[in-house]
Amino acid sequence: ANDDHVPALVIGSGYGGAVAALRLTQAGIATVVVEMGMAWNTPGSDGKVFCGMLSPDQRSYWLRTTTDQPLGYFLGIPVNKSIARYTGVLDSEKFPGIRVYQGRGVGGGSLVNGGMAVVPKRDYFAQILPSVDVASMYDTYFPRANAALGVNAIDPAWFETADCYQFARVSRDQAKASGYATTFLNNVYDFGYMKQEQANTVPRSALASEVIYGNNYGKRSLDKTYLAAAAATGRLTITAQHAVTAVAPAAAGGYSVTMNQLDTAGATVATKTVRADRVFFAAGSVGTSKLLVAMRAQGRLPNLPAAVGQGWGNNGNVMVARANHIWNTTGALQSGMPAMGIDNWADPAGPVFAEIAPFPAGTELWISLYLAITKNPNRAQFSWNSSTGAVGLSWQTAQNQPAVNAAKRVFDTINKAQATVYRSDLFGPNKVWGDDLTYHPLGGCVLNQATDNYGRLPGYPGLYVVDGSLIPGSTGVNPFVTITALAERNLERILTTDI
Ligand code: FDA
Repeated sequence: ANDDHVPALVIGSGYGGAVAALRLTQAGIATVVVEMGMAWNTPGSDGKVFCGMLSPDQRSYWLRTTTDQPLGYFLGIPVNKSIARYTGVLDSEKFPGIRVYQGRGVGGGSLVNGGMAVVPKRDYFAQILPSVDVASMYDTYFPRANAALGVNAIDPAWFETADCYQFARVSRDQAKASGYATTFLNNVYDFGYMKQEQANTVPRSALASEVIYGNNYGKRSLDKTYLAAAAATGRLTITAQHAVTAVAPAAAGGYSVTMNQLDTAGATVATKTVRADRVFFAAGSVGTSKLLVAMRAQGRLPNLPAAVGQGWGNNGNVMVARANHIWNTTGALQSGMPAMGIDNWADPAGPVFAEIAPFPAGTELWISLYLAITKNPNRAQFSWNSSTGAVGLSWQTAQNQPAVNAAKRVFDTINKAQATVYRSDLFGPNKVWGDDLTYHPLGGCVLNQATDNYGRLPGYPGLYVVDGSLIPGSTGVNPFVTITALAERNLERILTTDI
């Protein structure tokens, strides 16, 4: 409530925020999590909490009047449709050079993502975060994160027979025949549940084309793991549909945190200020960076270092699809949860780690789709625009060319070996590369640059960054396990030395 005083306030409820919430509450500290999105726990008139991917309604997008699907075209024709403006679960936040997809709601990105739980390559992790002790990450914090996230492995024998992974087997066999290695990917989606879906003994979610607008069953999203465990301590309060707009030192000590309470149309219905002894920024790479850059520019946190707002990257994301021969059917039934990747990361001429993505249209399309993660070295900055009163991101679409080049080497080789071609109708009319969108925003408040080596903001005791903004633009694999494990490491240190 307005004017409350709280020991710890966490801004955002994604991976970084959920780790902070659990470890703080377990340490006996009453903690408030403020989340701008909704608590996705109430069924709509169709009896489901989330809408399906094939029939998006207002629940799909954050405050948009048309959908903005990652693959916005089919046969070159736009496929987006009108929806009511609503605080839906997936945000496609538009900057001039890139659309950044992010989850909105209690659980952040865990509500909408593909659940792939991938530990980064050890030597690459050491390269991107050289100030972090690598042994303790791989011995302690990655295992801790995987356990608390509920990560599980697919049964390889079942994978070989399941209809819903025919698309992945086809892509695997083609990659192998073209000289590339593939690897299974762990997931937080319950593969035991998925087996039952395939056997038609439970309601379907991953096998009902659910992903990106939420999963009604099967997925161990953060509200069911970290946040549920934090709530079980009795010391957690989650305040949903409240967007934090300002953080500044409070005269009485600690920090005053200002927030707007939102209705489901995104309108502000109340403004509140609370005082917190400690504030954990967990609004995601974009959310945390925007907030801190604005606070520095507005003179509320004027001493934040210049590195705040720097070092943002898209994890080298680029999407691409291939058209298969008529005999290479990819299946009308495709699991929404990917389970395999092409691992060409060791190739010095162009590292690529490509997730074999489903195209769960519910009908045979002969399409092989991929989300490639590459080692794109380009970075961008967030900066305050005083004339618009908003924070911009400098990323230009052309900065993604290294990602396209690396992915092209791999998929040109596969196309040549298979005598197949790219689909050029899914990302725009006559557009092969999905190079203007990302699912993996990282950086903006990089560890040991914008913060100290544990996420503390210099000059402001009691302010911490705990989310994907700490990771310098790239982690070489899908990022949430990296974000979670780094937050575990930092929280452990903060709890033993600061609190
Ligand atoms: P995250 O974005 O999760 O959470 C931030 C939270 O803060 C959000 O809930 C947001 O609403 C809230 N917030 C922002 N500003 C606020 C403010 N001012 N006030 C209050 N609240 C605020 N990764 C992976 O490892 N495997 C995968 O399979 C996938 N797949 C995937 C698919 C799709 C469609 C997307 C969009 C993303 C993925 N990802 C993924 C990426 C992964 O989901 C992402 O890296 C993490 O969610 C980022 O975690 P953070 O804790 O940094 O922020």
